Amino acid sequence: MAAEDAARWHRSLKAPTVETFDLLSDEETFNDGANVGGVTRERDALSEESEGENDEDSQLSFWEEALNAEEEAGELFDNDGACTLEEALAFRKRLRVVGEDCFLAETVEAGTISAKKLCTAFGIRPPFFLEGQEDEAFYPLLGLGICRELQKRVKLPQYNTVDDAVSLLKKSRNIIVLTGAGISTSLGIPDFRSKGTGLYSQLENLGLSDPQEVFDISLFREDPSIFYSVAKDILPSSKKFSPTHSFIRLLQDQSRLLTNFTQNIDNLEGHAGILPEKLIQCHGSFATATCIECGYNVECAKIYHDLKAGKVARCDRCIQQIRQVKPGSKRKRSSNGSSGSRKRRQSYEDSTDDEDDDIAVAGVMKPDITFFGEDLPKRFHDRLLEHDRDLVDLVLVIGTSLKVAPVSEVVGVLPPSVPQLYISREPCSHVEFDIDMLGNCDTIVTELCRRAGWDLQHEMIAENSSIDVQLQEGYESRFSFKIVDT
Ligand code: OAD
Repeated sequence: MAAEDAARWHRSLKAPTVETFDLLSDEETFNDGANVGGVTRERDALSEESEGENDEDSQLSFWEEALNAEEEAGELFDNDGACTLEEALAFRKRLRVVGEDCFLAETVEAGTISAKKLCTAFGIRPPFFLEGQEDEAFYPLLGLGICRELQKRVKLPQYNTVDDAVSLLKKSRNIIVLTGAGISTSLGIPDFRSKGTGLYSQLENLGLSDPQEVFDISLFREDPSIFYSVAKDILPSSKKFSPTHSFIRLLQDQSRLLTNFTQNIDNLEGHAGILPEKLIQCHGSFATATCIECGYNVECAKIYHDLKAGKVARCDRCIQQIRQVKPGSKRKRSSNGSSGSRKRRQSYEDSTDDEDDDIAVAGVMKPDITFFGEDLPKRFHDRLLEHDRDLVDLVLVIGTSLKVAPVSEVVGVLPPSVPQLYISREPCSHVEFDIDMLGNCDTIVTELCRRAGWDLQHEMIAENSSIDVQLQEGYESRFSFKIVDT
């Protein structure tokens, strides 16, 4: 990899951010003023900073919403005036074959289809503020959609079936497995973004403008009590791991696993026996905690009781140092002052202000999980760019919505000729995988192992059930997997 490429990736792989395709994809949420994704935070910031001139800003949000239509749910293609799924797939294919200029010449310029309708082929819902306007008003939006489509990795046409996936697994010796919260949900640990059951749905009552702020480093510094109030819900409480963890272990035992990049902080890969040298915990883990003031690092077991009780854990070393300072002397409080615009934050500040006047306060312990606004561990970049990139022969993405950068960038950084397989409940429309296998990941890996003739052992795998695999209508390489009780 050229030095400037590496530098560019090092820059873009810095801190976790929610990507634009996550922004405002839910029309209802947008209209009623509630909040999803990072744009809302952006909108808050914009409206605070540039009061009175936010017409353009809010329009930008509408454009983003349009670009992020919920293609997965099939909502977009079912509407009047939209392309059907088959038409959309055919247009996308044609664009790649003939290129942008020719594609535009034979479609909108030749008058065979309107720009408004063609937008839907690229996952764009025509925004309401363009309703009733000349078709030319949709050209810029169409241009963005085409651009986005052309930047996607191109699916490799030779891999389409579940048996192709099995052959790839059997012949590969350097597999990157990229995992997310979906591989632990069968153990009762919630994922983040599933509607209703995901952690962010459960946190909607916290009074934050965006539930993801729970993992925002600035907010943690301002008011750690918000994180501590939910930490008990995400704290791993058992060493049990899922059949999907066992599957990754099986790949390791067969010398096929290059690296497991996990976004999970539950540490279950370690319990499943994934070797530390094969594991990158991209978002850190609950194994250790560090004082945000003095950097004192401890095993998380030391602050477990505070975490479980929802109480902000303070640093023992800071406490000892404070005790050694002569009585009567004052020290500056650790947390910074801030706007405190939200009720919850305000009450935390009020409660600590009194203390602040008289006594020094020890630093807050932060579990070593990566928050939004923090860098990922150096090992993540080094392993990906300086080791795995040249070795990988198969990419297996399991149980992640791939909505948080820089981990979501991993699939784009790897050589496009390396096959990429996706296993999750929902399809992921912003990445072109070669084969999509949809359903419960434990079920899918069980079926893949059965077809491969591999003995996947796990107490949660039912012996007397069979798995039904169906090709999804309108697709050549998208399958749904379901357990059928026999
Ligand atoms: P998400 O909740 O965004 O995505 C989990 C995906 O797994 C969803 O697409 C689910 O449909 C799917 N899923 C859930 N249960 C499943 C099952 N049993 N079988 C198959 N699929 C299943 O979680 P992540 O992508 O892991 O970061 O989230 C990435 C990051 O966002 C997290 O690491 C965290 C969060 O904000 C930080 O806090 C920095």
